[in-house]
Amino acid sequence: MHIGIIMDGNGRWAANKGFPRSFGHRKGAKQVSEIIKSCPKLGVKTLTLYAFSTENWNRAAHEVSSLMRLFRGYLQTKYLEIIRNNIKVTFLGDTNPLPNDILMQMKNLEKDTALNDGFYLNIALNYGGRDEIVRSTKKIVRDVLSKKIKTNEINEDLFESYLDTSNQKNPDLIIRTAGEKRLSNFLLWQTTYSELFFSDKMWPDFSPNCLAEAIENFNLRVRKFGKEKQRIKKPVSF
Ligand code: FPP
Repeated sequence: MHIGIIMDGNGRWAANKGFPRSFGHRKGAKQVSEIIKSCPKLGVKTLTLYAFSTENWNRAAHEVSSLMRLFRGYLQTKYLEIIRNNIKVTFLGDTNPLPNDILMQMKNLEKDTALNDGFYLNIALNYGGRDEIVRSTKKIVRDVLSKKIKTNEINEDLFESYLDTSNQKNPDLIIRTAGEKRLSNFLLWQTTYSELFFSDKMWPDFSPNCLAEAIENFNLRVRKFGKEKQRIKKPVSF
């Protein structure tokens, strides 16, 4: 099962306690580790975390730099643990505007975990769904112009193979914390048939038990993928 999480509410969690927003992000990063650890027991094989959106650059400069410091520190301290735990890490998003040293850490982590297959962790960093679709379209145009592919070969499967999530299954469930009920540019292509779950908990309070509850709720849903709902009884014929 693949779950995507929009980790919202770090700022409000901190403000409610009289702390700066950066404190909420730090607590949020700790929660990331707890949630990742709980995934295998809960049957989650792939987790996609929305860590920083293309729109998040519009936040106050000090908040953006505190988030970048946090990502840098997280990647440094968790590097070996991730490799040892057989986790394959993939970064989603446009890496170009990210600080060079973080970019190097990201590339190395992807390379060093490329053959891992115990658990798949996608981190969406400078990610936007629309931006991903535009970047994929540019790559397709380049390949058409260089005659690698033909225009009439472009279909949904080919398009998917150009996305940041190429070769991955689409998410079964998207969870958003902190009471907001929108996707905010997260995995726009991939969430077409995902189930949505909204939690009122702020992300730093979203525990593995909350994740288990979301999965229980998901298990009660009937997924139709655009088809007719499966009938239990035969239709009455006249
Ligand atoms: C949204 O809360 C959260 C973010 C923009 C950052 C998410 C980052 C983390 C959870 C920390 C580290 C992540 C990794 C992968 C190490 P908000 O600030 O918008 O909260 P608010 O809506 O209450 O202001």
